[in-house]
Parts: sequence; C-alpha cells; structure tokens
Amino acid sequence: MPLLDVRDLTIGFTSADHRVPVVSNLNFSIEESEIFGLVGESGCGKSITALSILGILPQNAYAQGTIIFKDTNLIELDPESMRKIRGNEISMIFQEPMTSLNPVLTVGYQIAEVLMTHRGMKKKAAMDRAVDLLGAVQMPSPEIRLKEYPHQLSGGMRQRVMIAMAVACSPSLVIADEPTTALDVTIQAQILELLHSLRQERNVSILLITHDLGIIAENTSRVAIMYAGRFMEMAVTEAIFSNTKHPYTKGLLESLPIEKGVPLNPIPGFVPRADELPSGCRFSDRCSYVIDRCRVMEPEFIEVSSGHFSRCIRTEEIAWKS
Ligand SMILES: Nc1ncnc2c1ncn2[C@@H]1O[C@H](COP(=O)(O)OP(=O)(O)OP(=O)(O)O)[C@@H](O)[C@H]1O
Ligand SMILES: [Mg+2]
Repeated sequence: MPLLDVRDLTIGFTSADHRVPVVSNLNFSIEESEIFGLVGESGCGKSITALSILGILPQNAYAQGTIIFKDTNLIELDPESMRKIRGNEISMIFQEPMTSLNPVLTVGYQIAEVLMTHRGMKKKAAMDRAVDLLGAVQMPSPEIRLKEYPHQLSGGMRQRVMIAMAVACSPSLVIADEPTTALDVTIQAQILELLHSLRQERNVSILLITHDLGIIAENTSRVAIMYAGRFMEMAVTEAIFSNTKHPYTKGLLESLPIEKGVPLNPIPGFVPRADELPSGCRFSDRCSYVIDRCRVMEPEFIEVSSGHFSRCIRTEEIAWKS
C-alpha cells in the first residue's frame, strides 16, 4: 500500500456558471519514505495539486477523484478532520517563507504553536522542543534564533524554520513546493540535503515540486512531468533522463543549461490557458514532433514499459535519443 494514492484527480475553478478544469485526471502514488518529483512549467497545475492534497484549495475551486492517504479519502473528509491531518500528518513547505511566517511572532513561538495546536503541549515544553527542532534543521545557535523574528533571519534560515515547523509533529508526508527557488545555489544544496536527511532519519515521504530538472535528477526516485494540467510522462527518475519518452520532457531537458555560456534551447511558445487548450494533444502547438493525427484526439497515458508512462502517440515511433 502506498502512503498516498491519487486516482483520477481533477481540479478546476468555477467562474460565473461554468467550470474550467486546470488539472485533469491525475493518477500517481507516493511510497513510504520516497521523494517523488512533480515538474512542469509555470501555470501547469503543480501548486493546485499540492493544495488539493492539503485540503486548502481556494474558495472557488472544486476537486474530484480520490486522494487516499493511509486508508482515508482526503477529498471526502470533513474540514475538522482535515485540519487535524494538516500540519500534523501532512505538512507543507512553501517557496517563500517570508509570506508564510508571521512577521510579528518569534520563529520559536511559531514552531511551538504547531505543537501546542496539534499535540496539546504547554508553551514551555513546546518552546523547549522548538529549540531541538531548530537544532535538527541545523540552525546555527538555535537558542538565540528561537527568540528572533522572521525578518532578522536570512532566506536560508527562514526556510529552515519552515522545515522545522513542517516536521514538528513528525508527519508522514511533506509537500515541498519550490522549496529552494528563492535561495542561492549553496543554500539550495544545504536545504535539499536537509530534506534528504529527514527522509532517511524520520522515514518521511516528500512530494518535491520544482520547475528545475537538475533538482529532480539529484533528489527524487520517481517523477511526473506535468503540462497544462496533465501528466505527460511518469517514470523512475533515471529513466526520465536516460530513456525519455515524451517530446515535452525532451524539450525541458534540451532547455537546461549544459554548461556556463552554452545557450539554452527553450521550448518555443507558452503553456496554453486552461480554457484555451488546443484540440488533441495539449502540447501539440509547441511540439517539434507534431503530425496531423496529434491534433485529432488527446493521447492516452500509456504504460510504455514497466512503470514508465507517456502520453504521446509517437512514443513508440521515434527514437527520442538524438
Ligand atoms: N484562484 C484561482 N482562480 C482561478 N484560476 C486559478 C486560481 N489559482 C490558480 N489558478 C489557475 O490554475 C492553474 C494552475 O496554477 P498553479 O498555481 O497550480 O500552477 P503551478 O504549476 O504551481 O505554477 P508555478 O510554477 O508558477 O508555481 C493556472 O492556470 C492558474 O491560472
Ligand atoms: Mg506553483
């Protein structure tokens, strides 16, 4: 049994009298102690997917399908039960900690608050535990930092505080949405290292959301490549790089800088809006392998080899490796 099993997940927004899906029929699972990657360009639906797992979608959003977490379908869960799971069994690390942390409370208190809310701990005990947690996320001088406010810390330190809050109640699943995008490369590596040690030492599963395939290559065991609300390819991470099956993945790989000074080769065009999708394959307008048939019907998500899925009618025809 996987820890998280998402089946046929569709998420959309209601505007006026019609519904526009922005994420369509996702199927994926995350095993215990696994780091699963979710990649795609801006606007493809990564964060909305994360928010649906946490039950914190915006007011005008709807979600259909099932999200099974430890035998419970989170989609059907009442708000009170969902609140008990959120921050406790499933927690989230956001991209920009400055907007998620409260500027007028010390970081120590904010960590302690999680423990007071979910574990019913008294303030003194919770503050003591907050020092331990800051130590566990390798915050320098945790006793001193505990009493400081978010603006007194560097970006990397703030992200460590967010991670301490996320793991305070020993969750089984942590969703990290672009956790290192705002940080410089050295700090980025330290934060990713920290996520790894959490996985190893605490058996935490991590859903790692990023637009950076370099981060995926080094940190995940399996990955789903998302485009315009659909999974286009999903496989063990190594296979995504060595045996690419989808032109979109190929395009993302080719747009990576190989070395300094070598120009990028970005995919031309933009991700289409959810209410302006092209007919047939959603990627057809930007795909260099497109043929007429691609525009007729949207391809199925086919298992092309064991555990390796691709949504392209030309997957079998084309030797993707050039
Ligand atoms: N409150 C909202 N109302 C209507 N549409 C929304 C709302 N929030 C997000 N969307 C739409 O949902 C789609 C998915 O957005 P989402 O934030 O999940 O993208 P993302 O993949 O996380 O992008 P990024 O890499 O920029 O963070 C987008 O097309 C966006 O316009
Ligand atoms: Mg996002």
